[in-house]
Amino acid sequence: MLSLNINGTPAEVRSDPATPLLWVLRCELKLTGTKFGCGVGVCGACTVHIDGEAQVSCMRPVSELAGRRIVTIEGLDGSEARALKAAWTRLDVVQCGYCQSAQLMAASALLRRNHKPGPADIDAAMTPVVCRCGTYPRIRQAIYEASGQKPR
Ligand code: FES
Ligand code: FES
Repeated sequence: MLSLNINGTPAEVRSDPATPLLWVLRCELKLTGTKFGCGVGVCGACTVHIDGEAQVSCMRPVSELAGRRIVTIEGLDGSEARALKAAWTRLDVVQCGYCQSAQLMAASALLRRNHKPGPADIDAAMTPVVCRCGTYPRIRQAIYEASGQKPR
């Protein structure tokens, strides 16, 4: 049994300690907002926050994560996250939606550390999360809007 901190709540998990966090979230804890894409750390679909940083979860054995603060899309909150969700909705960012939990996790981690990100900051933070539908221009616009900046 391993003790994790998920969305501010202690969670005792029974999965094998070598199990990647993604599968513990989805299969054991039924937190299915975090998505499976590639399983090898290259698409970003499985992005969560670990100690406030956006990190992929498909390559992280849960044995490494005892005592770390893990936040998933289900627990994402705070002023940056609320501003992003409002901008996402207003600008109708989502297309199929598959990548969007991860996009919000990446964007909220960015805004928490940088309240006025420029184009290069946004590129650096958001490039790891692939969107097959190509919603990148609207994501960028929503990040500008949520951070109180004019689109560039
Ligand atoms: S599923 Fe984790 S990076 Fe693709
Ligand atoms: S909205 Fe479809 S993959 Fe991003």
